Amino acid sequence: MEHMEEKRRLMVEALEERPPEALLREPLDYIFADHFRQRMLCNLLDAMVSEDERDLALSRHILAFLRRDFGLHVLDEELDLFPVLLERALPEDRMEDVVSELCAEHSSDKLDADELCRALDAPEKQGRGWKGLFTRFAANERRHLIVENAIVIPMARIRLEPDDLTRIGRHMAERRGITFPENVEGSAR
Ligand SMILES: [Fe+2]
Ligand SMILES: [Fe+2]
Repeated sequence: MEHMEEKRRLMVEALEERPPEALLREPLDYIFADHFRQRMLCNLLDAMVSEDERDLALSRHILAFLRRDFGLHVLDEELDLFPVLLERALPEDRMEDVVSELCAEHSSDKLDADELCRALDAPEKQGRGWKGLFTRFAANERRHLIVENAIVIPMARIRLEPDDLTRIGRHMAERRGITFPENVEGSAR
């Protein structure tokens, strides 16, 4: 029991803590770290489904993550990572199909995410369908993360140039209202 509580505490901590700002100099690592947080989100949603009672404190943590960071991540990919990757990829990389599939998933996940926020915000108004919604969102999100981690990020590591990465990192910093970490000690760029 204690072990389960500790596990949950660590997952909530991962949701609450953004990756370190210095990681914006390595935006692919930042995006990868955000994917880890999203996996924790999926685990927490599954945990809520398996419990009979709605955990209101946990609902608030999940809601804060969805409202604060989830949308920013989608913008990082759609406005920065994906367009640059499409520009740099070679025809044989066949990135167009992968990226257009991922963008379609972003659109459908956004609808589910909005519904999820409403369900978390006002559990008393939520009907019996919430478990199905939470399970579907987590399952779709996990599949999405597998494609991004296994195909998109490794390909971006091969094809993107150092200047592309700096530009992407700058945009991600702007999007979060933070100063891009220009000179991090020990950094090569
Ligand atoms: Fe992603
Ligand atoms: Fe994505």
